[in-house]
Amino acid sequence: MTHKLTGKEKGQAIVREISDTYPECSLQYQKREPINLELAKIQLRAYIEALEGLGLRVLILPADHRFPDACFVEDTAVLLEDTAVITWMGAQTRNGEQEAVAECLAQWMDVVRMMPPAQLEGGDVLKIGKYLFVGESSRTNREGIEFLNAVACPRGYHVTAVPVRRALHLKTVVTYVGGETVIAAASILPQLKQYMRGFSVIELLEECACAANVLSLRGTVLVPKGYPQVSQQIAELGLAIKELELSEFKKGGAGLTCLSLILD
Ligand code: GLY
Repeated sequence: MTHKLTGKEKGQAIVREISDTYPECSLQYQKREPINLELAKIQLRAYIEALEGLGLRVLILPADHRFPDACFVEDTAVLLEDTAVITWMGAQTRNGEQEAVAECLAQWMDVVRMMPPAQLEGGDVLKIGKYLFVGESSRTNREGIEFLNAVACPRGYHVTAVPVRRALHLKTVVTYVGGETVIAAASILPQLKQYMRGFSVIELLEECACAANVLSLRGTVLVPKGYPQVSQQIAELGLAIKELELSEFKKGGAGLTCLSLILD
């Protein structure tokens, strides 16, 4: 049986409670630092409240302590209007996280499952309207991008692969702000010039690279706390800003987009 979005699901966000094992999460390009689990839970609560403050309904999946990274639901699926592509993640220890998310999404959408050797993580998919820029990274391979393209292309999406080096995901280093503007760390600028021409870019200094992951929703941009100049640059575009403390997720190699899937 297939399920189609009726419109009621618009404005639905999915997040997941933090596993007790989160301090042992996957890390690739950074050193492990002690994670304060209680503080992480407080920061997730503030994130949920921010989404609710924007009028989203937030469904909170229970934690699954077998999977330290399970709160990073973004990586488990790519949402294409009435179809969810359930990913096969490049971090093999994370495969299994998808099950609860797939079950939840199947209430509302058709679900298509990626299988190995294809691998892709949602953090590598930057969706801007009908354009999907997909990081070819240590977590997302060519086969994963081809699989996504095969599902997305008939649905009117244009898929462009963007090579990502020395960053976990594409959205670790570039995200959408609004209008024609993206925000990006210096390390990805050469690829933007080659693969994402036509966008205005807020270019971040090296010390602000962590601010490249923002979440733009309904005219408000959620930004990580601690980068006032970046907040000001975004505000100058006429967008509202909501700063959120993310210290315990930064230690886990994650940012604002990683913590939710949004049906909008
Ligand atoms: N800790 C985020 C990830 O490696 O997937």
